Amino acid sequence: MWNLPFLPQDASTVAGRVDLLFLTLIGLALLFAVPVAALVIYFAVKYRRGTPASRAGALHQNMALEVTWIVIPLGLALGIFFWGARLYVDLYRLPADGLDIYVVGKQWMWKFQHPTGQREINELHVPAGRPIRLTMISEDVIHSFYVPAFRVKRDVLPGNYTTAWFEATEPGSYDLFCAEFCGTEHSRMVGRVIVMEPRQYAEWLTRQPITGAAPIPEASGQAAGGGQPATLAEAGAQLFQSLGCSSCHLADGSGPAPSLVGLYGREVTLADGQTVTADTQYLRESILNPNAQVVAGYNPIMPTFAGQVSEEQLAALLEYIKSLGGSPAESGGQSPG
Ligand code: CUA
Repeated sequence: MWNLPFLPQDASTVAGRVDLLFLTLIGLALLFAVPVAALVIYFAVKYRRGTPASRAGALHQNMALEVTWIVIPLGLALGIFFWGARLYVDLYRLPADGLDIYVVGKQWMWKFQHPTGQREINELHVPAGRPIRLTMISEDVIHSFYVPAFRVKRDVLPGNYTTAWFEATEPGSYDLFCAEFCGTEHSRMVGRVIVMEPRQYAEWLTRQPITGAAPIPEASGQAAGGGQPATLAEAGAQLFQSLGCSSCHLADGSGPAPSLVGLYGREVTLADGQTVTADTQYLRESILNPNAQVVAGYNPIMPTFAGQVSEEQLAALLEYIKSLGGSPAESGGQSPG
C-alpha cells in the first residue's frame, strides 16, 4: 500500500495500518519537535546577552492559551492511544478461521507443520489471501518469529504456546528472522515465507511428502506407527494409539480417564473446584504434567509424557484432540464425576 523506501516491503493486510500509525507518530513528533528545537536555537542566539526587557518582563496568565495547550495534546494522546489499542487487539486476536500452522523454534532453525501433514524447515509455504494462524513454541530458549514484510513479530517461548497471525496479500518470498538473541547462531536463524496463489499452494501441497508428526530424524530411526500418509490430526490419532492414551481415554467416557470427545475449548471443572478452559495450553500441560490439574471425579493416575513426545508430536496430538470436536457452545457430556 505504501512501500516507502525506508520501510520494509508491505505485504500483509495489516502492514499498511501499522505503517500509517507509525508514520503519524513520526509526523506528530516532528511537528512539535522541529519548531521547539528551532525556537530554542533562535532564542539562544537572539538573547544570548540578555536584554533589560527580558529580565523585567512580567508574565500574565492567559487562560485561553493554557486550555488550548492542555486540550489539544490530550486529544492527540487519547486519539493515538485508542488507535494503537484497536490495532494491537486486531494484531493479537486470531481471526475466527484460517489455516493453522504449528511453528517450533529451536537453536537454530524454524520447523513448520501443516494441518495436512506436510512439514518444512526454514521455509513456510502459505497461500495468499487467507489468514494464517500460527501456534508457536520453542524446544529450548526464547526465539522471536519476525517477518518484517507482514509487520509480524512475536516471541516464541519454551513451555508456553504463543500465537500470531497474518494474511499475505502478494505472492512472493519474504524474509523470516529470529528477533531474539538465542545463542551463537542466532544471526543465522533465518528462513523464508513463500506466499503462493491459492491454486499454486494446493498444487505445492500435493507434491510434498506427508510425514505427519514423524519423530525428528536424530531422535529416532523408526517411523511413527502406521506408516500411512496422514494429516497432522491422523498422525496424532496414531500417536494416541501407540502411546497407549486410547486405553484410558475412552470415547464414551466410561474409562478411567475423561473422554476427549468434544473437550477442546470447553470449560472443565478440576478436582479443587476451579474451572479451566481446555485450550491448547491446558491440553499440552495435561500431557506433560498430567496430575497438576486433574479433572474433577478422576484419579491422578496418568503417567507423564514429558521427554517422550516432541513438540511436533504434541502438536499432532492437539490437532487430533481438536478434531474430536468441541466448542464452548456444545457441551454434550458434562464432565462426569
Ligand atoms: Cu532464535 Cu535468535
